[in-house]
Amino acid sequence: MSTTLFDLSGRTALITGSSRGLGRAIAEGLGRAGARLLINGTTTVGVNAAVAEMQSSGLNAEGVVFNVTDEAAIVSAFNALDARDIAVDILVNNAGIQFRKPMVDLDTADWQRVIDVNLTSAFVIGREAARRMIPRGHGKIINIGSLTSALARATVAPYTVAKGGIKLLTQAMTAEWAIHGIQANAIGPGYMLTDMNEALINNPDFDAWVKGRTPAKRWGKPEELVGTAVFLASSASNYVSGQIIYVDGGMISVL
Ligand SMILES: NC(=O)c1ccc[n+]([C@@H]2O[C@H](COP(=O)([O-])OP(=O)(O)OC[C@H]3O[C@@H](n4cnc5c(N)ncnc54)[C@H](OP(=O)(O)O)[C@@H]3O)[C@@H](O)[C@H]2O)c1
Repeated sequence: MSTTLFDLSGRTALITGSSRGLGRAIAEGLGRAGARLLINGTTTVGVNAAVAEMQSSGLNAEGVVFNVTDEAAIVSAFNALDARDIAVDILVNNAGIQFRKPMVDLDTADWQRVIDVNLTSAFVIGREAARRMIPRGHGKIINIGSLTSALARATVAPYTVAKGGIKLLTQAMTAEWAIHGIQANAIGPGYMLTDMNEALINNPDFDAWVKGRTPAKRWGKPEELVGTAVFLASSASNYVSGQIIYVDGGMISVL
């Protein structure tokens, strides 16, 4: 098999929430495969720092700062790219937040905030990307789900519902956009070592639960998503549509 199947040279990738964590690892992996990177986060400081480090390691990266819940800012970011003739070939809908509270104590505003950041953003940004990919006849959309795309867990109801929605949004995108040469797929990471999980990683009981419950007996490293992301961003996956690939050390396969 030729490695050119996985070559992303000449492709531009927008990765939401790529100033830190999984998005950053995915971005760096796509960059090493040859893609030009558009790095996103909520703050100019955070995005600029990530971009500077990526550039210093030889990657072609620039920042696109917007909050994924700000539809006007998203549309204007895409319009600004249009004005510079920059086409997004690969979109990774990665930005996300967690919020833990039992449902009986959960305010509607907190429910809505988690749904907005983790699910509605993927629709809005996906729509803006697809409007531009459709006339070009190709595009790759990678939505970041979770084990909660398939299974629930106590105290994270809005996150579970958002990530379950990500799985079906990926299928809805496929239903409407596969005919236009756009492949939409999702990645479902297991428990990964990022800032989002800091409190869990530092909790000995939770750490022991993750290691005991995961067949691989360890947390995942952000860079372990790169192979799947490059596959889904490249021509190697041109007939793969609407799938969610769990990268979880086997956790979802066992009781
Ligand atoms: N870590 C895990 O174990 C795990 C497992 C399954 C799925 N996931 C999913 O993977 C994705 C990334 O998680 P992570 O662990 O890497 O999280 P993280 O370490 O907390 O990083 C989150 C990233 O998203 C950005 N972000 C957050 N809210 C945003 C918003 N409203 N607009 C734009 N950017 C925003 C952050 O930028 P700022 O620096 O500007 O805040 C940061 O770059 C999420 O969708 C998460 O649900 C994570």
